[in-house]
Amino acid sequence: MTLLQLRKRTMTLAGSVMTVYLIFHMLTNLSFFSAPAFEQFYAVYNQAWIRWPVLALVLIALFIHVRAAVAIRIKNSQARRVAYKKHDKLHIPAPLVTLSIVILLLFILVHIGQTLLIDTSQVRAAMLNWFSSGWMLLFYLAGLLILAMHLLHSLVNVLQTLGISSTMYRLSISTGVVVLTAGFASVPLYIWMTA
Ligand code: HEM
Repeated sequence: MTLLQLRKRTMTLAGSVMTVYLIFHMLTNLSFFSAPAFEQFYAVYNQAWIRWPVLALVLIALFIHVRAAVAIRIKNSQARRVAYKKHDKLHIPAPLVTLSIVILLLFILVHIGQTLLIDTSQVRAAMLNWFSSGWMLLFYLAGLLILAMHLLHSLVNVLQTLGISSTMYRLSISTGVVVLTAGFASVPLYIWMTA
């Protein structure tokens, strides 16, 4: 296996860990719609032996994923004499794709920073407070939109690498990403609309 292939595998593995976490996080966020279930979940989840290892795992996976992605990009741009003007079939200018990834990274880091500042016995109140602001709602919706585009693009790429080009798989990926994004977006939208 070449170094490039190893980096790609590492990036995919770290990305998969984050995807599993995202599905779990979205499902537990949905418990917001039942106050007792939400309180019960966070009372268990916010015990130090669960919360900190999960956060460490996500941060390590994020670091490995980004580091491998940067290394692959550098290698690819060294091998390419003429830079891409457009990124893949969607014809999105390459600098815009880079910018969106940087914004996504910032969104994740700002979000984690925000969660570290909240009183863990008052998670529901903190969420109500965050999304009573239209700016915060917009910030989250923008982050979620970029996350959805990133997931769509990268999961289809993983399929391609595995040699799977079936429309059924593509469709299931698109449906999965839409459901994930809608699940995440539902809580801030609900809070903002009912605030
Ligand atoms: C509408 C969207 C989201 C909402 C409302 C939300 C809400 C929350 C809340 C309330 C916590 C704090 C839990 C605690 O008490 O420790 C948290 C933690 C966290 N969130 Fe989110 N989140 C959202 C989207 C995301 C996304 C898209 C990502 C990643 C890409 C993410 C990554 C994390 C991480 C890494 C933590 C810290 C680890 C943990 O405590 O689980 N979140 N989120």
